[in-house]
Amino acid sequence: MILVTGGAGFIGANFVLDWLAESDEPVINLDKLTYAGNLESLASLQDDPRHIFVQGDIADKELLKQLLSKYQPRAIINFAAESHVDRSIHAPEEFIQTNVMGTFHLLEVTRHYWEGLEAGDKENFRFLHVSTDEVYGSLHKTEPAFTETHAYQPNSPYSASKAASDHLVRSYYHTYGLPVLTTNCSNNYGPYHFPEKLIPLVIVNALAGKPLPIYGDGQQIRDWLYVKDHCSAIRCVVEAGQCGETYNVGGWNEMPNIEIVQTVCTLLDEHSPRADKQKYAQQISFVTDRLGHDRRYAIDAQKIQRELGWKPQETFATGIRKTVQWYLDNQTWLANVQSGAYREWLDKNYQGREV
Ligand code: NAD
Ligand code: TYD
Repeated sequence: MILVTGGAGFIGANFVLDWLAESDEPVINLDKLTYAGNLESLASLQDDPRHIFVQGDIADKELLKQLLSKYQPRAIINFAAESHVDRSIHAPEEFIQTNVMGTFHLLEVTRHYWEGLEAGDKENFRFLHVSTDEVYGSLHKTEPAFTETHAYQPNSPYSASKAASDHLVRSYYHTYGLPVLTTNCSNNYGPYHFPEKLIPLVIVNALAGKPLPIYGDGQQIRDWLYVKDHCSAIRCVVEAGQCGETYNVGGWNEMPNIEIVQTVCTLLDEHSPRADKQKYAQQISFVTDRLGHDRRYAIDAQKIQRELGWKPQETFATGIRKTVQWYLDNQTWLANVQSGAYREWLDKNYQGREV
């Protein structure tokens, strides 16, 4: 079996669902269930004995030791993290605690477990760390996309904490020989995305008749990857990646934020038109920029294609259509994640941002 951490979050839940759709190998899912963890995303696995959910912290060494000794996983995939840049600006400490200290404790316990495995199991064991393109910092408009050898230049507390965790993972390979792999992926979108991030936030606000907040001039560029393509890349790297290597994962889909929002608005006009027949784009509102806002990210995903034969299946046009439809079809999931805590976050992040 495999152990997944953070499997109740956006990408982790998609990964667990896809993994069990593709194979019968059981998954132990260790998740702290922070505000971002949601068991409703895994409701279809409620009676599935292949999914073993454990609520807990990746920094809890005793719990980790118990889980590894009981289940003897052949691989660990580390999704667990604090993941939202805006939250890292308001309250960075939890990012250091989970992303840095949590990954460190997970690595330590994993190392002792791995050292005690029999030769064959030891050789086949893998630790895959899921990371982000944000560790590379910001690109100018004409600079080439990030390759795996691009210098680390993180600019937010979030990206700095992920960079620190990437370095720790790397060091466990070079120092102890732990068979690690790291993936650095661009912005994901798709089902089960918590509506604090741009695309689901825009869908929720549009349908509720609220403003669609665009930070600064909306010309910041991100590369966007449909989440199920990210999941297939991770499966590919865990099975065939070379230990100690990092793989950049991206969708070859660079777009400015304003175009992302306009595309979502157009799809909503088509599939769920406003009662007054006006366009959703009318709700777009330019607001005060994010502090230290990175201007551009772009991923060069040639290495993973060349060496492992992976490439994305969805274009942005096909992926965003599926995503908007999923949100329209899953209004109960969406309503249930908008708890009091969610509304408090909206007040904290958006109130007082000048329009
Ligand atoms: P998310 O915030 O939706 O989910 C994170 C999950 O981790 C939640 O279920 C949460 O409960 C859990 N968690 C948090 N702290 C924990 C702890 N201490 N112990 C155990 N569980 C804990 O995040 P996501 O968007 O699914 O991202 C998953 C991973 O992928 C992260 O490591 C993130 O840095 C990385 N990543 C995300 C993106 C993206 O666009 N979302 C892109 C590239 C990489
Ligand atoms: P986000 O989804 O938070 O992901 P990340 O910061 O990891 O890239 O944001 C994507 C882009 O959208 C980013 O450039 C910030 C911008 N953005 C807005 O313009 N308005 C918003 O309300 C949010 C949440 C993000």
